Amino acid sequence: MIRTILWADDAVVLIDQKALPGKVRYLTLTDWRDVITAIKDLTIRGAPAIGVAAAMGIALGTLQLTETTAGGFRKSFEDLCKAFAKARPTARNLFWAIERMQRLFAEVLPSGIAAVKKALVEEAIAIGEEDIGINRRIGLNGKAFIRDGDNILTHCNAGALATAGYGTALGVVRAAREEGKRLHVYVDETRPVLQGARLTCWELLEDRIPATLITDNMAGFLMAQGKVNLVIVGADRIAANGDTANKIGTYSLAILAKEHGIPFYVAAPLSTIDRSIADGTGIPIEERHPDEVRHLHGVRTAPEKVQVYNPAFDVTPHRYITAIITEAGVAKRPFGPSIRRLFKPRQK
Ligand code: MRU
Repeated sequence: MIRTILWADDAVVLIDQKALPGKVRYLTLTDWRDVITAIKDLTIRGAPAIGVAAAMGIALGTLQLTETTAGGFRKSFEDLCKAFAKARPTARNLFWAIERMQRLFAEVLPSGIAAVKKALVEEAIAIGEEDIGINRRIGLNGKAFIRDGDNILTHCNAGALATAGYGTALGVVRAAREEGKRLHVYVDETRPVLQGARLTCWELLEDRIPATLITDNMAGFLMAQGKVNLVIVGADRIAANGDTANKIGTYSLAILAKEHGIPFYVAAPLSTIDRSIADGTGIPIEERHPDEVRHLHGVRTAPEKVQVYNPAFDVTPHRYITAIITEAGVAKRPFGPSIRRLFKPRQK
């Protein structure tokens, strides 16, 4: 199984997603600032993977704190958390992971600074390990939506590379495959930075899952030709009413799917759901550098001075979503109460 991110010998080891598919190489990061840079520049990306990276980066930064008083230590830890919170705005998992580290910090601080450092490292490792288990449960909960012989369309990368391993949307695909179903995946290239072409295609080929790459503007034609049985995507943040932010282009796919009577599934862990946000209008959408649109892998494809708008995500209103597949079960319409029920057994 592809491992996206690991903790090893007091360092964060992660696969360099900017180098894929050309080179498979792991980077060993020993400075927490480099972990923030890796999140910002998409060396590691995908909501759950960003959460794991933040947890490990915070653990790394805390290990390196030299303060000897509880007050000073707490202040530096909070500064560290604030720095990670600024890395990217949309993925809920980033903030979920930071909040989990903050809760543990407060719990363990009375036992001393050394105890906190040890506990935070263990917690970050646990967040990574748990993520793989969560994805496997998402897979088990979602595999029945895929029938033998289905053609599945996916967008961006919601696979092993977007998580600690196994994937969310691709976790559902993997679980259906493991059950012996024959299936085939159409992969949207996913402009501007090609997570579909570079990453999803790479990991599907690694796992020998039949896949065909298409450019983003081909999806409607494929649906009209009857070539797509279902769409499965991941999510960066899901509001309390089921509205879902995911990679730019997801919204158009959802509308196309509705027009063609094709089910549209979102697969995501509960840590992606933000119940403090009532609907999609409250989800912060990241805008990225114009050069991602003006250039394609370093090659300029537009006039250097042209104005560019580059939102990294869009919001799919819940009315276009057939079901949201999580590790705790499947939410269906009406999503508000259905999502609330998913959290019930876990409420503290
Ligand atoms: O900008 P990215 O590559 O971090 O965007 C990733 C996505 O939009 C994924 O679909 C989402 O994070 C779900 S990953 C399981």
